[in-house]
Amino acid sequence: MAIIVIDGISLEVPDNKNVLECALENGIYIPHLCHHPDLPENGSCRMCIVEVEGQEGVTTSCTLRAKDGMVITTKSDRINKLRKLSMELLLASHPEDCSTCPKYGDCELQTLIQYIGASTGRLHSRVKGFKENTENPLLIHDMNRCVLCGRCVRACNDLRKVGVLQYNQNDMETYVGTLHDKLLKDVNCRFCTACAEVCPTGTIRDKLQAMNTEYTKEELIVPCRTECPAHTDIPRYIRFVKEGDCDAAAAVVREKVPFPHTLGLICTQACRTKCKRSEVSEGMSIREIKRYAAEHDTGKYWKGKGKQLPDTGKKVCVVGGGPAGLTAAYYLRKQGHDVTIKEALPAMGGMMSYGIPSYRLPREVVAKEVKVIEDQGVKMETGVKVEKPVELLNEYDAVLMTIGNHMGVRLPMKGNHLPEVLVNITFLRQASLGQETGMGKRVVVLGGGNVAFDCARTAKRLGAEEIHLACLEARDVMTADEEEITQAEEEGIFVHPAQTFERITGTEEGHVTGVDFMNVRKFYFDENRRPVIEKEEGSEHHIDCDTVIFATGQWADLTEEAGLEQGRGNSIVVDENKNTSVKGIFAAGDCIYGTKSVIMAIESGREAATEIDKFLGGDGDISEVLAPPQFADPAIGVIEGFGDLKAVGKKILPAKEREDNFNQFDFGICDSDICAETGRCLQCDLRTQIHGARLWTQYS
Ligand code: FES
Repeated sequence: MAIIVIDGISLEVPDNKNVLECALENGIYIPHLCHHPDLPENGSCRMCIVEVEGQEGVTTSCTLRAKDGMVITTKSDRINKLRKLSMELLLASHPEDCSTCPKYGDCELQTLIQYIGASTGRLHSRVKGFKENTENPLLIHDMNRCVLCGRCVRACNDLRKVGVLQYNQNDMETYVGTLHDKLLKDVNCRFCTACAEVCPTGTIRDKLQAMNTEYTKEELIVPCRTECPAHTDIPRYIRFVKEGDCDAAAAVVREKVPFPHTLGLICTQACRTKCKRSEVSEGMSIREIKRYAAEHDTGKYWKGKGKQLPDTGKKVCVVGGGPAGLTAAYYLRKQGHDVTIKEALPAMGGMMSYGIPSYRLPREVVAKEVKVIEDQGVKMETGVKVEKPVELLNEYDAVLMTIGNHMGVRLPMKGNHLPEVLVNITFLRQASLGQETGMGKRVVVLGGGNVAFDCARTAKRLGAEEIHLACLEARDVMTADEEEITQAEEEGIFVHPAQTFERITGTEEGHVTGVDFMNVRKFYFDENRRPVIEKEEGSEHHIDCDTVIFATGQWADLTEEAGLEQGRGNSIVVDENKNTSVKGIFAAGDCIYGTKSVIMAIESGREAATEIDKFLGGDGDISEVLAPPQFADPAIGVIEGFGDLKAVGKKILPAKEREDNFNQFDFGICDSDICAETGRCLQCDLRTQIHGARLWTQYS
């Protein structure tokens, strides 16, 4: 150790440590610009100059090493003058007008100018005349704003070991760029965006700015994690899978959701819609990676581990054993409460067992994950329909309604009550239970979401000979997953987007003969969120069929008898803490917000568990850490052709082998490809390891 004195303050610091860091860490501000705590020093900006007793002139404190007995002065007239001069030299080629810079208000250089008190107009200024480069994914390069601090070059070369950025020279200027000014993809950039993170000006910046959005900077940096309703730590589990540690990866998923395998098969992947990889080539196969982790998980990090608080003596009844109810019950049990789920159907799982067809989600996967919840101590009763939840308060301290939306909706149109007109949920449930559905041979499904495709593909597997699916939305904005649409078409299902449903036609005896349609020219929602449909004149047409299935939404199966305030579509009205109109009764999942996704229901169940735990006197903290610590290596290195890497394929049976049975036909990513797929991740979260700037305003 060494004793040094800075501005009269004596400090004990490690021998040879960079004096600038010694000062900053001890709360003494020395201005700096090219210095960054995560990067090697290059001593180029000269903002950090100091005087050392017994030495001539000034020296840069970022390159000065602490020696025992050193006496340092950070402020003097000479230092101030020289700093001002250095700053003015930097600014001579920097645009004068900061207010037009997208980094305005968030620029380190701007803050430093205020501290040093430099004037921008003293030296003759020149315009660099670079064209702003917006041709690369994710990043914008505006070399007019560069002050050549070199942080980006060091981040790319020394921190990341990628070596894409370098100093280039044209006739007039030195600037930062790539070899021969190639596109970032063509020089194997890893798109980690560390360069944008360390840039102190608006030179290299993200295309998506943190300003003026509802998101925090970290949420924008790792959009997959932000977009996942349960905020599963996606980059962390992808990294574990890449390292071959599926146990740890599955544990990461289990920190947020009790259904990793189910989600690995059917999650709607909100995360993928925002994956930054899709800006570069194709989005990551996040769902399939989760599935791979779940299928290779031995439970090493979570079986019999994780949180289980002592019994509280409080009793909770959860009405409905779907994803929201099961999730809430699981976390409430872990908080120490005595939890019972009452489910109306013969098995637990809700839509996971009776809505989503088994070729997409095998029932044994759901049963296995439900068993984990049961093993945690949650009591489960099936075949019990609760009509009056209020009465449950006589026996339980709290009640949670998670009854889902199990009542299909018939649109108000002619013929909608003919006997061969079926509704989505009933049809899928009957098919799932092996019961007679009443379906004929020629089927028209009305609706364009995933549930509509589940109906159409189930009809195919039950033996329908001709199936048509029609919806209001145009093909490119249909709400079903693209994969669902493609696979259905491969199976011979005719998809008719942009159609109005005029009427269901029938015989005089009252049997379905078909559906009349018109083409939709335009379909949108007005400012009051009311649908506006413009039809194409003279486009009336008819499709013959003997069965119509409505797949145009579903409602909660609940009557006024339940004694709870209801809203649109039979939903249960709740406040922001999931309280219903009756004290002690909470609600979560589809029955409060309409039909969404399993992951949304899980998150809603988690939120309800938090609220109910607080209501029962707990702290509401249901978080837990299951996975071991992870070292995320910042030195990601070079991968040849990284930017162009496409998503690896999955093993899927051809249509002919899958369309007549309910067996699983998608086998996910195979062992030999999983490394390639996980290796495509941009590892956006690495950027959050980089330390933020330490501005003078943060020092007293
Ligand atoms: Fe030390 Fe730039 S020379 S911070």
